[in-house]
Amino acid sequence: MPFITTVITGATSGIGRETALALAKKGHAVYMLVRNIEKGEEVKEEIISVSKNKSVYVIHCDLADLQSIRNAADILRSSLLGINVLINNGGGIFAKREESVNGHEMTFAVNHLGHFMLVQCLLPLLERGQARIINVSSEAHRYTDVKINDLDWRTRPYSAWKAYGNAKLFNIYFTRSLATKYGTKGISAFAVHPGLVNTSFGSEIGGLGKLLLWLTRPFMITAETSALALVYLATAQRIDSKSGQYFKGRHPVNPSAKAVDEKCRQKLWDLSLDMIKSFNV
Ligand SMILES: NC(=O)c1ccc[n+]([C@@H]2O[C@H](COP(=O)([O-])OP(=O)(O)OC[C@H]3O[C@@H](n4cnc5c(N)ncnc54)[C@H](OP(=O)(O)O)[C@@H]3O)[C@@H](O)[C@H]2O)c1
Repeated sequence: MPFITTVITGATSGIGRETALALAKKGHAVYMLVRNIEKGEEVKEEIISVSKNKSVYVIHCDLADLQSIRNAADILRSSLLGINVLINNGGGIFAKREESVNGHEMTFAVNHLGHFMLVQCLLPLLERGQARIINVSSEAHRYTDVKINDLDWRTRPYSAWKAYGNAKLFNIYFTRSLATKYGTKGISAFAVHPGLVNTSFGSEIGGLGKLLLWLTRPFMITAETSALALVYLATAQRIDSKSGQYFKGRHPVNPSAKAVDEKCRQKLWDLSLDMIKSFNV
């Protein structure tokens, strides 16, 4: 098997952790970008022990901090020739409106802007590796309240689920933009809903959301099962023709009507570029 280099965010728990393990078992060199180094090292040791693959590495990267992302990308750029698979999986939902160190609303910052910045910083490596980029979205993208000129929820009351739905919609826009802009350079991109998965996702949310999560937990799939969809997208042959599409598990499906709003998609790209411009990517 050719040597495959995979970079993954959010690999310290849940879906990301199981995906990192499964890809390590398949022989990929796995670079885990984590905000908590201690936790990252523990997971790395477990993955190495189970997979018998020593090519697993941990790099500090806080998706809520653009400078931290820049630093992580610099490390990757100085150690790798190319990246074949990038899995933008890290994410979460925030009960109350909080701001990142860069002054962005946290759900937007972690689920969208951080990965946008990461991809921009890694473009030369992604091109060289003819990479597949997998953006972990969600069926929650159907529940949104997008005000494109208020991505940071400054001018209206914050809603945790709508902020999360918006961010997961932005993952789909980002995927379509990447496929459109970089397809000719050999980069492909996929958005995926991994299923309703029993992980620590939503553990900080209260009220009705907490009750809903509790009620649905018995029907949730395991992180190990959900990882199969990400592993499929990372490894399947002949799926490049489906670049830009939204998958539910292993199958492409139609996203919401809002997800094919080309004007909004382009505007998100332009605004995101503007938000990272001071980092000279
Ligand atoms: N669970 C579901 O039913 C479901 C459904 C659809 C989509 N998703 C999506 O699947 C992805 C993975 O979620 P999960 O269910 O596996 O949840 P999880 O177990 O809570 O895992 C989230 C991962 O993201 C990392 N993360 C969070 N904030 C970060 C930050 N600022 N910087 C770097 N890493 C950060 C976490 O790191 P720590 O370990 O340090 O906290 C953790 O590794 C998310 O994008 C989520 O939106 C989940």
